Amino acid sequence: MAWRSVGANNADLIRQLRDYGVIASEAVANAMIATDRKHYCPRNPYMDAPQPIGGGVTISAPHMHAFALEYLRDHLKPGAHVLDVGSGSGYLTACFYRYINAKGENANTRIVGIEHQHSLVALSKSNLNSDDASMLDSDRMLIIEGDGRKGHAALAPYDAIHVGAAAPETPTELINQLANGGRLIVPVGPEGGSQYMQQYDKDENGKVQMTRLMGVMYVPLTDLRS
Ligand SMILES: C[S@@+](CC[C@H](N)C(=O)[O-])C[C@H]1O[C@@H](n2cnc3c(N)ncnc32)[C@H](O)[C@@H]1O
Repeated sequence: MAWRSVGANNADLIRQLRDYGVIASEAVANAMIATDRKHYCPRNPYMDAPQPIGGGVTISAPHMHAFALEYLRDHLKPGAHVLDVGSGSGYLTACFYRYINAKGENANTRIVGIEHQHSLVALSKSNLNSDDASMLDSDRMLIIEGDGRKGHAALAPYDAIHVGAAAPETPTELINQLANGGRLIVPVGPEGGSQYMQQYDKDENGKVQMTRLMGVMYVPLTDLRS
């Protein structure tokens, strides 16, 4: 990938993503600068590549987190409900929180990370607390343990949904939990096969339109290994 790079520190990594045009907006850059990857990524935090975080999974590459924030940013408003499916390390969940909070504090804001691996739920909470404990201390951020393919109905509908692992086909349950005017971005396609990052926009009348954004390579959303 042309923009693959290594930063000397977090701010330098984000500067490079801006220089390469991956980050287009100041507000996305600021949320990523404020969220130092060292709290979420034990190895090579400032390299633009996925890195192992335990549980057999990786934290996604910084450029994919940047794309997710850019595609969803118009839906990240004070008071929004946001769902991060397969929240893993907690990094992107923290970026969503910071992006929205920088726009204005609102008691109705809810940023929900949902992750099915118990060990990663614990890890992400510890990461988030080492970054800034006030995020989880507020009732505006929650990390839920559960099957993200079913979403989290208790806080639906969502203005923005991000999915960090591939759905084999159209994720109907998540689309059902999207608010009118909301946006879902999700990799869709078979494991190891042709996958696309797909965007689903639900209009004010509840009509859904799908747009293919780019070819991607993601691990699948799975059942828990027993
Ligand atoms: C590529 S990792 C990305 C993690 C996270 N977005 C990050 O960058 O740290 C995919 C995540 O999806 C989680 N996952 C896979 N299937 C899931 C499911 N059915 N429900 C919830 N989480 C799931 C994995 O455990 C893993 O943490």
